[in-house]
Amino acid sequence: MRYLAGECGIWQFLDIGTGLPTQENVHQVAQRTDPRARVVYVDNDPLVLVHARALLADTHVMAGDLREPWTIFE
Ligand SMILES: C[S@@+](CC[C@H](N)C(=O)[O-])C[C@H]1O[C@@H](n2cnc3c(N)ncnc32)[C@H](O)[C@@H]1O
Repeated sequence: MRYLAGECGIWQFLDIGTGLPTQENVHQVAQRTDPRARVVYVDNDPLVLVHARALLADTHVMAGDLREPWTIFE
């Protein structure tokens, strides 16, 4: 994330297969490098989504399936 947000200048990220929130989540690392960085978290596990929505409240979290990427982009 430091390389992508820092050296590559990327500031929009899709984290597909987010998993359970932990310390140093993707958006925290990215925003420390570039405060403009925005992350959308995507997972297909309802349990993960409940935890992510509770613990990553300052981010965007959505249901989505990597095998159907067009539904995520829509
Ligand atoms: C091992 S966790 C990864 C956690 C985190 N991304 C990491 O690298 O530490 C894998 C996650 O991918 C999600 N996942 C598995 N298949 C998926 C799919 N087809 N579409 C979206 N998410 C999926 C699972 O629900 C799980 O939360």
